[in-house]
Amino acid sequence: MTAARRDVSTTPLTERGKMWNNAAKAGDRAGRANGRGMNREIGSVPCDASRFCVAPMMDWTDRHCRVFHRAISRHALLYTEMVTAAALVRGGARHLLAHDAGEHPLAVQLGGAEPHELAAAARICAEEGFGEINLNVGCPSDRVQSGCFGAVLMERPALVADCVAAMAAAAPGAEITVKCRIGVDRQIPEAVLPGFLETVAAAGVRRFAIHARKAWLQGLSPRDNRTVPPLDHALVVAMKRRFAHLTIAINGGIGTLDAARAFLGQGLDGVMIGRAAYQTPYDLLARADRDIFGAPSPVPSRGEVLDRMRPFIADHLRAGGRLHAITRHMLGLYAGCPGARQWRRILSEGAQRPGAGLDVLDAARAAVEPVAAAS
Ligand SMILES: Cc1cc2nc3c(=O)[nH]c(=O)nc-3n(C[C@H](O)[C@H](O)[C@H](O)COP(=O)(O)O)c2cc1C
Repeated sequence: MTAARRDVSTTPLTERGKMWNNAAKAGDRAGRANGRGMNREIGSVPCDASRFCVAPMMDWTDRHCRVFHRAISRHALLYTEMVTAAALVRGGARHLLAHDAGEHPLAVQLGGAEPHELAAAARICAEEGFGEINLNVGCPSDRVQSGCFGAVLMERPALVADCVAAMAAAAPGAEITVKCRIGVDRQIPEAVLPGFLETVAAAGVRRFAIHARKAWLQGLSPRDNRTVPPLDHALVVAMKRRFAHLTIAINGGIGTLDAARAFLGQGLDGVMIGRAAYQTPYDLLARADRDIFGAPSPVPSRGEVLDRMRPFIADHLRAGGRLHAITRHMLGLYAGCPGARQWRRILSEGAQRPGAGLDVLDAARAAVEPVAAAS
């Protein structure tokens, strides 16, 4: 029996980490052979992790968050927070790439606009075991604009093409992907997006995640840039129809698993979920393995998710880490359940106290589970 096919639903995370790492390595080898870094198998059914993924989110999708998401869904593709190429190359910031083997399938996102620097950063990412390296062409924050990368690159497709070509040459074993917007500022998305995709695809990129709204680079905060510019999902669906040979995932404002499935039904290759996956992780991720990937494993209960997290949290505490660093990402686990407020309150207050341990998690669980079960 191969590691990839063992039943992992009851295996502790650390052990599963080893198994999944082996599976990921096997997947990498298969991926390199067929040019698709994220293809794996569930039993004998091909599984493309990029059909359903959790978006890169600064300060949110750190390694603790990803381990938590992985405890809910084994198959969803996870992304790191954006790491700037400059920080990696100049600052010796390899620690920003640290990850648990059990997080795979996992992609790293880079920010940058200088081909040589991105190439060097991509090489480092490949050495650190990432099979997918994603370039951020969607982030509108001031900091990102001043470095002239992120969403502002929507106006410079030729430069993006140079960047991804350099990254691919430097990291031939990894798949280079792009996450972009439909346009920025005064650009007319219908007019510019096809040309952007064509130019970047000609440089070798086959997979895009498209956030279905413009970024307004002047006058809107990054937060407002995720809500104020209107969504245009239809345009992303149209891009998939027009560029059938490209793998296109849709992102932006998708809040339920049913909505995600509906987009897959419209022909999109993947769905990328950001805020909803963070805020209501169980609702988005728990049924994804069964309903999106067709995996035979049973849907874990919230309690089983907590059981899976315990060994990881215990290791973290033993190594001197703070409980809150992990549990801050878990506050949404019971979202929508009766008792969710107590869960959040006990966990958020208790976990921040110096020396807080697993007893805080147990107390929060004891407060919510009987209420949730009685409803
Ligand atoms: C807190 C936060 C941080 C984000 N950081 C990044 C980032 O590092 N890179 C990126 O490409 N997008 C980033 N985004 C944008 C998300 O990846 C996603 O495109 C956006 O939230 C829209 O998807 P949603 O409506 O499903 O949340 C961030 C979003 C949030 C809420």
